[in-house]
Amino acid sequence: MAITAFGSIGEAAVAAKIGLIYGSDDGNTETIAFRIQARLGEENVDVLDVSDVTQMDFASYDKLILGIPTWDFGQIQSDWEDFWDDVKEVGFEGKTVALFGLGDQFGYGDFFLDAMGMLHDVIVENGAKIVGHWPVEGYEFDASKALIEGEGLFVGLGIDEDQQPELSASRLNKWVSQISHEFNLGYEPIELDD
Ligand SMILES: Cc1cc2nc3c(=O)[nH]c(=O)nc-3n(C[C@H](O)[C@H](O)[C@H](O)COP(=O)(O)O)c2cc1C
Repeated sequence: MAITAFGSIGEAAVAAKIGLIYGSDDGNTETIAFRIQARLGEENVDVLDVSDVTQMDFASYDKLILGIPTWDFGQIQSDWEDFWDDVKEVGFEGKTVALFGLGDQFGYGDFFLDAMGMLHDVIVENGAKIVGHWPVEGYEFDASKALIEGEGLFVGLGIDEDQQPELSASRLNKWVSQISHEFNLGYEPIELDD
């Protein structure tokens, strides 16, 4: 029994970590990044600010979660923008990636979550397998580059801390559970009322 127990601990200890890389101007995306980490376990997820990473950090993980807010009428957040040429050179072949985006659906309804869609397009072009598609039900907006045409899905989780902060905890619980299966993690995330 003891050996079996040690064996399973050993396997868990060497299980590959997820790299969660985010950019954030005002802190909302950063907070959501840590709320995702809290659900999956600190020991399972490295959280990195895109302003501190190199291409090698992307190369280190087979499973990635990328977080990006949209700014200034459909623009990429500034730290992601600074890293954009590098992202274009990262090979995502063999990597599985889940995306989450922050936006304001009433303030910027013609550009809702656009940056998440732009990041999606670059990494898919470079070979990424995407998980974590998310239904558009429950949001109100006019246009978004993060939509998968004709499927009623976003390319990743949409979080709106400006207009719907009360929905974020349940959205995170559901989405993190979804990606844990799609990532084949072999462990269940915890549900939080944060
Ligand atoms: C000047 C300004 C421009 C914005 N432009 C957009 C936009 O084009 N699309 C969108 O969905 N959200 C937009 N937002 C909302 C932000 O994406 C949202 O507040 C987000 O939570 C910010 O994330 P951060 O705190 O991690 O930087 C904008 C917000 C401001 C203040």
